[in-house]
Order: sequence, then C-alpha cells, then structure tokens
Amino acid sequence: MLLKAFLPLSLMIFFSYPHVAPAPAPVPPSLSAERNAEMEALLNWKATLQNQTQSQLSSWTLSPSNTRSSLSPCSWIGISCNEEGSTVTSINLTSIGLIGTLDYFNFTSLPNLFILDLQRNSLFGKIPPCISNLSHLTYLNLGFNQFTGHIPQEVGKLTNLNVFSFARNLLQGTIPSSIGHLTNLSFLHLGNNHLSGSIPPEFGELKSLSELRLNLNNLTGSIPASLGGLTGLKVLSLYGNQLSGPLPREINNLTNLTLFFLSNNSISGFLPENLCHGGILEDFCASNNRFTGSVPKGLKNCTSLTRLRLDRNHLIGNISEDFGIYPKLDYIDLSYNNFHGEISPSWGKCQLLTSLKISDNQISGDIPPELGESALLHVFDLSSNHLVGRIPYELGKLKSLFNLTLSNNNLSGTIPSEIRTLADLAYLDLAANNLSGPIPNQLGDCSKMLYLNLSHNKFGEGIPIEIGKLLSLQVLLDLSWNSLTGEIPWQLGNLVMLEILDLSHNELNGSIPSSFTEMQSLMRVDLSYNYLTGPLPNNKVFQEAPNEAFSNNRGLCGNHTGLMSCHPPAKDGKDTDGVALLIIILVPVAVFIWTIIAAMLYILKKERKRERNEPRDSCHENLFTIWSYDGKFVYKDIKEVTKGFDAKYCIGVGASGSVYKAELSSGQVVAVKKLHNAKVEDRKAFESEIQVLTNVRHRNIVKLHGFCSHAEQLLLVCEYLERGSMAKILSKVEQAKELDWIKRIGIIKGVANALCYMHHDCKPPIIHRDISSNNILLDASYEAHVSDFGTARLVKLDSSNWTGLAGTYGYIAPELAYTMKVTEKCDVYSFGVLTLEIIVGHHPGELICSLSTSSSLSSSSSFSPVNFHGMLLQDMLDKRIASPDPDMTDEVVTIARLAFSCINANPEFRPTMQQVSQELSTRRQSFSESFDNVTLRQLLNLEV
Ligand SMILES: *[C@@H]1O[C@H](CO)[C@@H](O)[C@H](O)[C@H]1NC(C)=O
Ligand SMILES: *[C@@H]1O[C@H](CO)[C@@H](O)[C@H](O)[C@H]1NC(C)=O
Ligand SMILES: *[C@@H]1O[C@H](CO)[C@@H](O)[C@H](O)[C@H]1NC(C)=O
Ligand SMILES: *[C@@H]1O[C@H](CO)[C@@H](O)[C@H](O)[C@H]1NC(C)=O
Ligand SMILES: *[C@@H]1O[C@H](CO)[C@@H](O)[C@H](O)[C@H]1NC(C)=O
Repeated sequence: MLLKAFLPLSLMIFFSYPHVAPAPAPVPPSLSAERNAEMEALLNWKATLQNQTQSQLSSWTLSPSNTRSSLSPCSWIGISCNEEGSTVTSINLTSIGLIGTLDYFNFTSLPNLFILDLQRNSLFGKIPPCISNLSHLTYLNLGFNQFTGHIPQEVGKLTNLNVFSFARNLLQGTIPSSIGHLTNLSFLHLGNNHLSGSIPPEFGELKSLSELRLNLNNLTGSIPASLGGLTGLKVLSLYGNQLSGPLPREINNLTNLTLFFLSNNSISGFLPENLCHGGILEDFCASNNRFTGSVPKGLKNCTSLTRLRLDRNHLIGNISEDFGIYPKLDYIDLSYNNFHGEISPSWGKCQLLTSLKISDNQISGDIPPELGESALLHVFDLSSNHLVGRIPYELGKLKSLFNLTLSNNNLSGTIPSEIRTLADLAYLDLAANNLSGPIPNQLGDCSKMLYLNLSHNKFGEGIPIEIGKLLSLQVLLDLSWNSLTGEIPWQLGNLVMLEILDLSHNELNGSIPSSFTEMQSLMRVDLSYNYLTGPLPNNKVFQEAPNEAFSNNRGLCGNHTGLMSCHPPAKDGKDTDGVALLIIILVPVAVFIWTIIAAMLYILKKERKRERNEPRDSCHENLFTIWSYDGKFVYKDIKEVTKGFDAKYCIGVGASGSVYKAELSSGQVVAVKKLHNAKVEDRKAFESEIQVLTNVRHRNIVKLHGFCSHAEQLLLVCEYLERGSMAKILSKVEQAKELDWIKRIGIIKGVANALCYMHHDCKPPIIHRDISSNNILLDASYEAHVSDFGTARLVKLDSSNWTGLAGTYGYIAPELAYTMKVTEKCDVYSFGVLTLEIIVGHHPGELICSLSTSSSLSSSSSFSPVNFHGMLLQDMLDKRIASPDPDMTDEVVTIARLAFSCINANPEFRPTMQQVSQELSTRRQSFSESFDNVTLRQLLNLEV
C-alpha cells in the first residue's frame, strides 16, 4: 500500500529531472535533502487524494519552471516557508474541496511546520496519531471535515499548540485527558462531533485558554470544578450535551466570560451567582436545563447583555425586581419557568429588543403601555400567564411586530383598532382571554397575516367582511367559542390559501357562502354549534369532513353522511325584487339550455346509429394513431396482458383515470392510462393531453405511443418509466438515499429543459399548469420525464388564457389565486417549488410562504419561527443523502438560488425557463462564500 503511494512521486521525479539539469539541484545539499523530503511528503499525499480534487493542487508539481531557480515547494498553493525559503512552515488549504485521508501524510518529513489548516474540506478517515510528530505546531485546524474514529491521545504531545480545532467532524469516543497538557492553548474547539464521556478535569490546566467550545456532543457527567481555574476564559460553550449535576461554585471565578452557553443539557442547581461580575457578559443561554432558585443578582445590572435565554427551567422570583434595563439587549426568553410579579415598563427602554418572550409563567398585572416604545420588537409572547386589563393601544407603535401572542390570559376589553398599523403582523394569537366587543374591521389591513386565532373569547356581532382581505392567511383562522352573530361573509371564500377554518361555537346563521367552493387549500373545517342552514359548498374538504364538523346547526344539508340531502331550496319570499331579477336571468338561460339539449339529443341519436355497426368495446385501428403497429392488435394485446384492466396491473390512480403497466407480447412495456368514465371535463383533459403529446418530442417529456379515443374507451399508451414518480421516491427513505446529488441535479436540469422547450420552442407554446413531484417520472437511469398533460394549455395569442384553477396545491403560483391568469410564469413557480422539494427532500411548504411572501428582506426578524433567512443552505438539504461533493457545491448553490427566484411572489421577477435552463447548463464560477456558510439570505439577495 505504502509503496504504491510512493510510486507516483518516483515517476514524476524520473520524468521531470532530465528537463532541468542532469546534475542534482543547485542548492546546498543539506537544505536540498530536507526540502526534498518535504516535497516528497507533500506530493505523496497529493497522490493519495481523489483524482478530481488533485487539480486543486495543480501547482504542487516538479515542473520545469518551478525547478529552474530552485526546486522548492514554497510557491505551491497553500504552502508557506520560512524567510530563507529553506523549509515549509505552513500548510493552509482551507475550503478547497480536498477529498481524501491523512493516512499517507508523512508528518515526520515536515518537522518545521507551525501551521496546519485543513478546515472545511472533505477529508475523512482517522486522525493519525503520528500527527504528534509536528512538534512545532502552533495552529492545528481539521474542523469541518468528515474525520471519524477517536481523537488520538498523542495530540497531547503538541505542546506548542495555541489554536486547536477538530470541530464539526464525526469523531467519537472520549476526549483524551492529554489535551490538558497543551498549556499554551488559547482556543480549543471540539464542538459538533459525537464525543462522549465527561469533560476531562485536566482541562483546568489550560491556563491560557480564552475559548473552550465542546457544544453539540454527547458529553455526560458534571462540569469539572477545575474549569473555574480558567480565569482568562471569554467563551465557554457547552450547549447540546447531556451534562448533569449542579454547576461547580468555581464557575464563579470565570469573570471574563462574554459568551456562556449551557442550553440543552440536564444541569440542576442554581445559576452562577457571580454571573456578569466582570460587566462584559453579552450572551448567556441556559435554556432547557433543570436550574432552580432565583436569577443571580448580577444579571439585573448587566448592561452589556445582548441575548439572554433562561427559558425551560424551574426558576422562581419576581420578574419585575430581578431584571433591569438593558440598552443592548436583542433577545430575551424567560418562558416556561415559575416567575411571578408584573411586567416592568422598563422593557420599553430596551431600545434594541427584537424578541420578548415570557410565556408560561405566573405573571400577573397589566401589559404596560410603555412597551410600545420598544420600537424594534418583532416577537412578543406573554401567553399562558395571569395578565389582566386591556391590550394597550400603544402596541400599535410596534411597527416591526411580526408575532403577537397573548393567548391564555385574563385580558379583557376590545382589540384596539390601532392593530391596523402593524403592517408586518403575521401571527396574532389572542385566544382564551375575556376579550369582547366586535372584532375590529381594521384587522383586515394586516395584509401579511398567516395565523389568526381569536377563539375562546367573548367577541360579539358579525364577522367583519374585511377578514376576507387577509389573502395571505394560510395556517389558521380560528374564531370559535365566541358569540359571533349574523351570516358568514362570502368574502371569507377569498382566503384561498387557508388550511384550517374554525367558526364553531358561535351564533352564526344563514347558509355557508357558496364562495367557499373556491377554498381549495382547506384541510380542516369546523362549523359546528351555530345556526347555519342550507347546502354544503361543493368542496372536497366539506364533503369529506367528519360529522362533528357540522353538528348542532339548524339545517345544513348536502351530500354528506351526517346530513340530510338538500331539497330544492325553500323560497324565502321576502325578496320580491330578487325573484324578478331571477326570472329575467333564468328565462333566457333556460331557452339556451333547451336549445343545447335538443342539439345534443340529435347528435347522440346519430352517434348511436353509427355505433350499432361497430363492436361496442373496441378501439378501432384507425383510432390508434401514431402507433407503429397494428392498432387493433395492440388494443387486444393490452387488454389481454392486463387481464382486462385488472387492479393487479394498476400502478397509479389519479383524479380522472388509472394507469396500468402492460408488458406487450412483443416484450415492450408500456404505461396505459385509462379514464374511469368519460365525463366531459375528463374527456377535455384527455384530448388536451393527446393534443400536446402528439406535438412534442423531447427526451424529458414522456413519450406517447398511441391513444384510443372512442365513445366509451379513452386510452392513452405512453412510455413506461420504471422508477415511478419523484414524489413516491422522495417519500421512501431507501429510494431517496439512492437519489444522490448527481442524480438530483440531473433531474432538475431535465425538468428545466423540458419546460424551456415547451415554453419557448413549441408553437404555440405549451403551459403545463400542473408541475409537481407527482408528475415527474423517472426512468431506469433516473432521467426525468414530465408527464400528465391533462391540464396543459396551448397558449393561443388571441385568447386571453383565463381559466379555472388547475394544479396541485402547494405548487400553484400565488397570483393564480387572485387573477386566474395563466402564463408560463405559473410553471416557473411550480418548477421552483419542485426544485426546492428535490433538494430539501420533501415539499418545502413553510419555507416557501416565509420566503416568497415576504418581499422586504430588511424588516425580517432572525428569530421568528417561520423566518428562514438566516438559515444555512447546508442545513436545508436533504439529510438522507451525503452533502454534495465539493465539486458540486457551486451547482447546488446556483440551483437553490434559481429556485428561490422562481418562487418570487411577483411573476414578473421570476426568470423565464429559458434563463433557468441556460444558467443551469453554463457552469458558473465559484460562489465566493464557502458552501458551509451560504445562507438563504445570500441566495435571496442575488439577482438572476
Ligand atoms: C485516478 O486516475 C488514474 C489514472 O487516470 C486511475 O488509474 C486511478 O484508478 C484513479 N484513481 C481513483 C481513486 O479514481
Ligand atoms: C488560511 O487561509 C484562509 C484564507 O485563505 C485564511 O482565512 C486563514 O486565516 C488562513 N489560516 C491561517 C491559520 O492563517
Ligand atoms: C517519512 O519520511 C522520512 C524521511 O523524511 C522517511 O525516513 C520515513 O520512512 C517516511 N515515513 C514513512 C511512513 O514513509
Ligand atoms: C449519545 O449517546 C447515547 C447513549 O449514551 C446514544 O444512544 C446516542 O446515539 C449518542 N448520540 C450521538 C449523537 O452520538
Ligand atoms: C475560585 O473559587 C474558589 C471557590 O469559589 C476560591 O476558593 C478560589 O480562590 C478561586 N480561585 C481563583 C483563582 O480565583
């Protein structure tokens, strides 16, 4: 093995020397020997790296130009030498995409190395113990790679180390106590591995340490008292382990801490009483532990604080006495504790505060109006306390407010009409209070609302029609358990993105507005305990809702198990004008309908006559067009091999038809789509599909072999695609794992090419209108084929292309909900969603509404639950497959960026498929940021 590793070098030397000089290199022999050994070690290591990444080190070579002046590695990329150029002192190869191991790195040959920085590559395998031969090393960083195995005990010999990081690898086992010998360390970072065992008490010897990060491991036991000796420590990060027991008293000696993270452990006992003794503490997080007792006195005057998280502990004390005024505070969370007392008006003096969360405590008293002064507040959560009094109208001054959660208190009075000024409000939860009066119609001005819960209050009067203006309302509209009266405004039917609607337990009367038929996104509805009458809207969610959703009303009817069926609607007789109007409209309509019926009867008769001469259940050969074989024979063949369309051969059932797999006697396998029953719309869809597919030929569009369009038989014979739909594959772990980045990128490009062809190369252009993961099929070699053209439209320039809503919820462009205007930009939107789905591994629902609805990035909060802008691209990717290889990361970044531009809420800002397809096919130069650090914000800011 070793010999093999050396082989390439000897070859290289053999070939390069003759060009230079026949004699040995013109440098002092001793230097030459040492440097040759260094070069040999480096070149040998390079030769063991994976082929495609060796090119990153192309300057690492014994080329003539290099050897002319002197044979030296000092000009090689990432290599630095001492002043005389006699020996290598630094290797810095951060973020250049190396793939390989350190197994063949001859550390003995580099005795004068001070710096070894290999962070952010894809190095794997074990960390060799002989790394300890680098005895002069002061800087060792192997972080952000994929090293496995244990940390070798021998690193304890690197006593000159100042900076030491193995962060974010896959290291396991215990932390060697020998690291305690590295007394010159100022920076030790072993975070984000799988390390177990306890923190070695020997760390107390690291007197020069200023940063100690062991977060996100599996460390157990208590925090050793000896850490109290690290008095120079500025950063102590232990969050995300399984540490337990109380903090040692000695922690109080750490008075220089600025960042102190203990969250997500099981630490008990008291918080350190000296906290912020040095007056420089900026960020203290102790959430999700078992801390008891009260808040340390020192925190009250800790004006340096920017972030404080004490949530999810068992802390007690009077909240108005324990906390002071923090001019730099950005984020504070005290939720899920046992604090009592009142909310202090001084929070309003924290001018930089963006998040104030004190939910689930025993807080009493009023909400102080002074809080309206905290102008940057985004998230304000005081839910599940004992607050009383009114909601102060001064909260209307909180212009950035995004989430206002005051549910589960004893608040009374009305909702102040100033609510209208909260232009960014997306979450409003006032449920379970004693609020009364009418629901203010000004709520309709909060156009970014996603979630509105006013349930379990005493709101009266009617539901304001302005609620129907909240077009972005998507997650929930809950007005249940109030005293709302009157009819349900038909305008609520405009809320086409809404998923859950609860109006139960009110006093609503009249009928359910027929506009509710348009609420395509509804998944749950509850209208029980009202006085509603009349028919259910013709909408799947109503038809399929459980009986309880409509129980205890006055007279609902409809095609639903729990309800009586509707008689012809009883006439009110109240509205005589209305009746007159009806007659005026109805008479001409009736005449028109009669004419049509008569015409149809005539045609039918003729048709029947013709039919009698034909066998009923057959497909005429001339109906089987485009087929290269005898049509009649093929039809018989299909019927035979599917045993007369037996369910056994069914591979998919859609809204309008079933798809069968048929292996013809010729051996060819085809997919046969058979319509259930030939309803008019289905036939239209079928014909549209034939029309489109007979006219297109593209490797990424499913091939039509033939079709049969008979009065009673509608068959479509298409290419059979072995691996089925993208949706199915992504939903199965095993299959999704098979779908590595190369395949996924290929699929995305394939779909882009198909759409580009349809939009830009077909005359007239074709809009698919239902691009979703269900309609992307994969063949044996994972090539994508766009299918299901039932909703496709041929764009005729003279027609206006206005249409009913078609498509799959979650992929439909938002503008379609309002305008019903079909343009190719609707496909672009769906393509964006599909692309995100492929890289994330599931439908990116929440992500989309966060990214595509918020057009102004600047006002976004980095803490709100649905805000993803600060998220790393890397964290978003499908975790079931390994992260993309370094040589693919640029492409993944480009794809993600394109996907985000495709889901822009404004169709005009979306790229065309031509632009998308072009960008995907031209290889982009590197994205300047390292892949690990690319955030969604960066992707969103870039122009296409
Ligand atoms: C690298 O390339 C050489 C020659 O092109 C080939 O023989 C060798 O198998 C490749 N090694 C790897 C790991 O791909
Ligand atoms: C290595 O290089 C990168 C950028 O090229 C630089 O940011 C980093 O500080 C260097 N490492 C050392 C230890 O100097
Ligand atoms: C590493 O290089 C030295 C010469 O500097 C050589 O003596 C030694 O055998 C090499 N070690 C290995 C494991 O190849
Ligand atoms: C942590 O340790 C527990 C058992 O001690 C183990 O089940 C778990 O998988 C470990 N987690 C990680 C991330 O290593
Ligand atoms: C650290 O704390 C302990 C106990 O609290 C105290 O006795 C000791 O003097 C402190 N050590 C230093 C170096 O401050």
